[in-house]
Parts: sequence; structure tokens; C-alpha cells
Amino acid sequence: MKGSEEVSWQRLCEQAEGLLSVSTNPVANAANLSALLYQELPEVSWVGFYFLDAGSLVLGPFQGKPACVNIEMGKGVCGTAAASGQSIRLADVDAFEGHIACDADARAELVMPLFKHGELLGVLDVDSIQPDRFSKQDEEGLESLARVYLSSIE
Ligand code: SME
Repeated sequence: MKGSEEVSWQRLCEQAEGLLSVSTNPVANAANLSALLYQELPEVSWVGFYFLDAGSLVLGPFQGKPACVNIEMGKGVCGTAAASGQSIRLADVDAFEGHIACDADARAELVMPLFKHGELLGVLDVDSIQPDRFSKQDEEGLESLARVYLSSIE
């Protein structure tokens, strides 16, 4: 398995741009981006989207084990990132009060809120069973990928 230091976020962004250029459908592009990230990121156990729907977050396309379907705004890591509009990078999910453990083995988490034209669409969530899996560089890389996703959709 590749070490995390070998991930080229620039190459991933280029791959994502190509992959997402064939559609502007938010669900189709979320599905393909989840698959690309799950395939390419080492030591990632879950990657997927939650979309804002009637005031709370609802599970969207993802790769990994089945996950929690509904997350209230302000709850868990995803709901907190969505409510604050700030990304959250956790070295140890147990240190975050209110973390929702969809997968009991998950140790580290990175959640990115998604805004299109200033409106919250949802979040992109990545989990790892490896403690402290995500670096600042990973956070910036995922932010760039989120931008590729947001530019691709209608
Ligand atoms: N851990 C998240 C829940 C989503 S799963 O990790 C897929 C949270 O606390 O919001």
C-alpha cells in the first residue's frame, strides 16, 4: 500500500477534473469522486458525502461500510463542520465530544463543508482506521478536490 506521503493531490485533482467533466449531476459526480478517492487514498476506510436536505444532513454517495443516514446540523463531526462552515481534521475521533461512530474502527477523520454560491450543500467526509492519518497537506488537497467537485455541478 502506498504511504500517505506519496499521494499527489495535484494528480488527483487532474483525474477528478477529467472524471467529473462528463456530467454536471451532483449525485453522479459525488459517486465518482467518492470512488476515485477511496481507490487512490491509502489507509482510507470510508469516503463520502452528506447532503443538506430539509435542514439536516442525509447520506449521499459513498464508499466503505454502510453509514449513519441522518445527521442533525451541529451534531457529530459532520454536523459541526456543516454548522460552522469550517473543515474539521481530527487525529483522534475519540477526542471530539459528540463524534458519531458509524464505524467503531475509525480513528481519524477529515470533514469538509461544501458551499456553492454561498449556500451550504453538505459535507465531504473521509475516515481512516489509522490514528492521525490526515495532515494539513491532506486537508488542503481535499479542499482543492472539493472545489473541483463544486465547479463540476450545476
Ligand atoms: N463520524 C461522523 C459520522 C459519519 S461517518 O464517519 C461516515 C460524524 O461524527 O459526524
